[in-house]
Order: sequence, then C-alpha cells, then structure tokens
Amino acid sequence: MFRFSVAALQLIELFVSSLVHILYGFYIFSSAVAGDLSLALNDLFFKSNIEASIRDGQLDPNSDNDLPPIVLVHGIFGFGKGRLGGLSYFAGAEKKDEKVLVPDLGSLTSVYDRARELFYYLKGGQVDYGEEHSKACGHSQFGRIYEQGHYPQWDEDHPIHFVGHSAGAQVIRVLQQMLADKAFNGYENTSENWVLSVTSLSGAINGTTRAYLDGMQPEDGKSMKSICLLQVLRFGVIVYDWIDIPILKYYYNFGFDHYNMSWRKAGIWGLIDCLLGNSGPFAAGDWILPDLTIQGSLRLNAHLNTFPSTYYFSYATKHTRNFLGFTIPSNVLGIHPLLYIRVLQMCQWRHPPDVPPPFKGYRDEEWWDNDGALNTVSMTHPRFPVEHPNRYVVKDSECQPLQPGIWYYKIVEGDHILFVVNRERAGVQFDLIYDSIFERCRKHAFRKIPTMPDHVQ
Ligand SMILES: *[C@@H]1O[C@H](CO)[C@@H](O)[C@H](O)[C@H]1NC(C)=O
Ligand SMILES: *[C@@H]1O[C@H](CO)[C@@H](O)[C@H](O)[C@H]1NC(C)=O
Ligand SMILES: *[C@@H]1O[C@H](CO)[C@@H](O)[C@H](O)[C@H]1NC(C)=O
Repeated sequence: MFRFSVAALQLIELFVSSLVHILYGFYIFSSAVAGDLSLALNDLFFKSNIEASIRDGQLDPNSDNDLPPIVLVHGIFGFGKGRLGGLSYFAGAEKKDEKVLVPDLGSLTSVYDRARELFYYLKGGQVDYGEEHSKACGHSQFGRIYEQGHYPQWDEDHPIHFVGHSAGAQVIRVLQQMLADKAFNGYENTSENWVLSVTSLSGAINGTTRAYLDGMQPEDGKSMKSICLLQVLRFGVIVYDWIDIPILKYYYNFGFDHYNMSWRKAGIWGLIDCLLGNSGPFAAGDWILPDLTIQGSLRLNAHLNTFPSTYYFSYATKHTRNFLGFTIPSNVLGIHPLLYIRVLQMCQWRHPPDVPPPFKGYRDEEWWDNDGALNTVSMTHPRFPVEHPNRYVVKDSECQPLQPGIWYYKIVEGDHILFVVNRERAGVQFDLIYDSIFERCRKHAFRKIPTMPDHVQ
C-alpha cells in the first residue's frame, strides 16, 4: 500500500512537472516567434546589404577584411542558422557584426560530440568523432559532411572568437582542449591558440542541480531515475528519430543521426532496443544531460585548461536574492510564473543526505542562487578540480587592458534565457551585453602580432 502511494505520488508529480515544462516550452516558443516576427518586420524596413550577406550563412572567403569571425555556440535545445524556419537562437545578435557564424550542433548531443562537430563545421570535411569515443558510445565514427568549411583558413594565425550560451560555453572549452591535444586526425598542427577569446553567457561551466531535479540520479550524475521528466523526453526523442520524417528533421534535429536510429536503418527491433535502454545515446550516456550534472562537469573539467594566450570572459546570471537567510526568487512581479517555479525549485535543492556528495566540500547553500536553469556559482568561471585564475568585474572599463589567461566575470540580474531567443524580454540590456561582447572581441582581445612591413614580397 505504501509503495503504491509513493508510485502514485511520483506519477502525479511527473504529470504536473511535465505540464509545467510543456507550458514553459510553449511560452518560450511563442515569445520567440513573436520576437522573430518583429525582427523580420524590422528587416523589411531597414534592410542593409551587410545583413543580406550575413543571412547567407557563408562568410565571403574573398573578403579582404581579415577580422577573426565571432562564432556563437548554442546550448541545450538550441539550434543554429536555418532551423525552426529561420528563427534565431541568439535573437538576432548575429546581425550586430559583419563576421558572425551560428553553427547548428544538435540540440541534445553530448558536449564532446558537439565540439567535434564544431571543428568540422569551421574547417570543412566529414565529422570524425574519433575511433575510441565512437566505439565506446556505440555510434558511427563518421558523421555529417561539410562540403565547404565556414572558416577553412582557421589556424594559429587566423584564430577565432567564440561566444557560448549555457552548455555552448563548455563545448568551446572542450574544443579548445582538443585543439591543444591535437585530437583531430590529419590536423597535426592544431593548438590552443586557434582560439582567441572565449565568452561564456550563462555558461554551464560547473554543472547544475537542475539536472537532478529533472531526473538525473544524484548518485552518479549519469543515469536517469526510472520515472522522471527526462524519461518522457527520452521516449519522445527516440520515437522522433525513428519515424525520421525528413522535413521535420530539417526543421528541428536533436543531432543523433550518427546513432542510426531511423526505421530505415534500425528497423522495429532497433526501436525496441533503444526504448528498452540497451542501445542509443541514452544508454551510452552520450547526450547532454550527463554532461550538465555536477559529476559530469567534474569529469570534463578534470581535463580542461585555461590557456595563457586566450581571453576569457563570463556572464553569470542570477534571478535570486537573499532574504532573512533564505534564498528566494528576486523580482517576483517581473518574472514569468512558470520560470518562477523553476527558480524556486533550485533555491530549495538539497542533495539527498543518504547519497555521497558530488565532491568533497560540496555545500547545498552555495548552489541556491540560480537563473532557473543553472546555479550562479557554476557560471562564473571553472572552479574545480582547481580554481582557474579569475577576476570579478563590476564595470567593463576597470578591466582594460584585458589580460589573457584570466576569467573575467560579471554577475547579471536575469534568468537563463535573458540573452537568447527573444530580444524584447531583455530590453536595453540585450543590446548592452552583445554590444560590449562584440566590442571586446573587436577592440580589446587580440594577440600582439609583430607587424612585419618587410614581409610583403
Ligand atoms: C550507421 O549507418 C552507416 C551507413 O548508413 C554505417 O556506415 C555505420 O556503420 C552505421 N553505424 C552504426 C553505429 O551502426
Ligand atoms: C605544421 O607546422 C610546421 C611548423 O610550424 C610547418 O612546417 C608545417 O608545414 C605545418 N604543417 C601543416 C600541415 O600545416
Ligand atoms: C564548482 O564550484 C564550487 C564552488 O566553489 C566548487 O567548490 C566545486 O568544486 C565546483 N564543482 C565542479 C564540479 O566543478
């Protein structure tokens, strides 16, 4: 009887939280569409030539301006240029500069797979996920083919600025480490210096307690509870990929094509096998949620360095405040009711007492400040296993000239999606943030390359 009522309670909780999430997703989606519509109208009236050439997606390879491109890397559920009917994940911020790229890296794939994808998106060629990793995770070693790289000249002398939102920030860090480790077959000359700067916007640098709230096991940070929101998601993704309707896949793609889950390749038994949890990305733990748990971030961070010649900047977001010793959502009136629930849940997260903490010295209260998706403590800079060099910034001007090799960070009042999808929500803050990021890339973050007038032969 007791067992039964616990299960029933869990089911009810699942139902309610699914409903909340569906409504929440719908809310983001509808405001995104509204935001996009107004952008489209804007375009109609203020079309400029620069914008037209940017919308093409490809940078003009013959353009004589040698500015490094700025690459915007999306987070979980994110998408690049061309998906969702041309909706912009970065809410049109890519139009603020003439050399911006917005890759599409799969919305639920692992940080590792995204980093591989990003390399070939820029350099061109067929995505090579690496033999060892592919075997271990049970997916194809080779993936999508980029006939033409988006920045084929990319190298140490033609480095790139990266801006990552949420999980995107971690993707950039993993890619930079791969470049330093010369991890791409046939590219023996890669180095960390191919990355000129890294900007993290609400970056998932240190993991999030949200992952447990949605259903990851706090014991290992890798497997899922048997009844939880993420199981619903898992089911949906497997069926979506199995049905494999090209036009839908083109519209929105979870990024698991290298797992061959389509009915064409897997057949009905493949579907059953995936659903039973014997194969596929969820069985292998090769998707984004395990990388977002605190344990998952520990595993990643153990190999990631902050490099001395790269500039690092981070914006951590926070929608909470301290009230009589409690952490509570701030600005209750200004917040959307559905987001409010998520912020509140994270304010109250307590690691189960019967489960060992994710690391020695873990304290719940450090993780209570949050933005509805990530904990603020996790977004500022890499802190574990060793804290990386960092400096807290209040006003931009106080950190100039910028030094490479240090994580400058700001804490911004706002929720997790303040800087993406719908620019109207952030109002003037949206422009302030992106203008300062792009200005920093263009004016303050560069390597002192010796000018060699006698080099012209
Ligand atoms: C997926 O299918 C392709 C051919 O369509 C094949 O080359 C590859 O080995 C398959 N991968 C897996 C993991 O089954
Ligand atoms: C790699 O770098 C070395 C020395 O910097 C250079 O001689 C060589 O040509 C480079 N190789 C490639 C494939 O770019
Ligand atoms: C994240 O930050 C906390 C707070 O300083 C630190 O103690 C912890 O080790 C970090 N955890 C991970 C997984 O990086």
